[in-house]
Amino acid sequence: MVYLVTGGAGFIGANFVKYLLKKHNDIKIIVLDNLTYAGNLGTIKEDLEDPRLIFVKGDIKDPEIVNDIFERYPIDYVVNFAAESHVDRSIENPQIFLETNILGTQNLLDIAKKHWSTGKDDKGYPTYKEGVKYLQVSTDEVYGSLGETGYFTEETPLDPRSPYSASKTGADLIVKAYGETYKMPVNITRCSNNYGPYHFPEKLIPLIIKNILEGKQLPVYGDGSNVRDWLYVEDHCKAIDMVLLKGRKGEVYNIGGHNEKKNIDIVKLTISTISRFMKEKPEYRKVLKKEEGDLSWICDELITYVSDRLGHDQRYAIDPSKITRELGWSPETKFEDGIVKTIRWYLENQDWVEEVTSGDYQKYYEKMYGSR
Ligand code: NAD
Ligand code: TYD
Repeated sequence: MVYLVTGGAGFIGANFVKYLLKKHNDIKIIVLDNLTYAGNLGTIKEDLEDPRLIFVKGDIKDPEIVNDIFERYPIDYVVNFAAESHVDRSIENPQIFLETNILGTQNLLDIAKKHWSTGKDDKGYPTYKEGVKYLQVSTDEVYGSLGETGYFTEETPLDPRSPYSASKTGADLIVKAYGETYKMPVNITRCSNNYGPYHFPEKLIPLIIKNILEGKQLPVYGDGSNVRDWLYVEDHCKAIDMVLLKGRKGEVYNIGGHNEKKNIDIVKLTISTISRFMKEKPEYRKVLKKEEGDLSWICDELITYVSDRLGHDQRYAIDPSKITRELGWSPETKFEDGIVKTIRWYLENQDWVEEVTSGDYQKYYEKMYGSR
């Protein structure tokens, strides 16, 4: 099988590329990524040496580049991870979110349709090459925000609140439209918040880890009571692979691990885990950017409550029973294990953090949080 993985130099896309290379032998993967601030070749450095992987630097909105890829390689699957993905940035500058997330998706669909079409059926609908599929990687944020109870199912009405989630909803609707109007073989997956290695440190968990190691304050929005449903990234990758191979054409699948946590609890758990690591394994202390002392400064006093995010969604929680029932997927990594694995990965991969946060990141951080 030949995969076109867009956004494969970003957090989840890169983890997916690594997952595919480990799981399947006889594959070819074309990664298309234009390497925004969030995409880094360092993330797939070792994978680039694998002869099964080809990297193309380019924009998903660019018809020529995407067309050229389809002309050169017999693409079977398109898995679209490429997106502007950070809610806070979408509040600052919505336009690029609409351009990349909606128009980029439409461009990929158009070119896939052109190359996959084999003719027309008796009602005039296009017919397609056997076995091809377009999978849109979406988010639970398209469903809006929950109160204290209830879960998002695939039938929950779409109700996005942020420019980011509105753009992802727009993209989902375009994918659905191509599935209905042109009978294209498509799937949409809607996953909850991911965590794990290679997560860009503007998102909550890696940002908190980075700040603790630097002895900086930990910015918690509002009162810290917002709830997210966390899933280890490899479990997400496994679900996407299953939907590609076995998902029913045209269907939406929610992906989540029944693992709801309040932000403040995530922050406190990260502090206590790092503090424990530093005590148990003194060799980790070399990554601290602050004078170690007695390490008592690695404590909840680092937490600082800052102004709330505009339109901050209160709670996300996924009901994943459809993908469990139909495809046999269930999350394998318990949060207690996943968060320890993740924190250990960051302690052992500070070179990666430094590489991806040089330049643009500093400007963004200062704008968002000042020089705290
Ligand atoms: P990310 O920001 O880490 O990576 C996005 C990647 O897309 C980067 O490599 C970037 O360079 C690339 N990209 C951006 N614009 C591009 C363009 N115009 N052309 C080509 N490449 C472009 O994002 P992520 O967290 O890995 O998320 C991947 C996908 O999963 C996104 O579609 C996101 O909406 C979705 N998602 C993310 C989460 C999460 O918790 N991170 C949860 C559910 C769904
Ligand atoms: P984030 O990782 O940006 O993911 P999303 O907004 O897509 O869920 O944020 C996760 C939660 O953490 C969200 O409720 C906002 C909150 N948050 C903070 O409290 N402080 C921060 O510095 C960041 C980046 C997020």
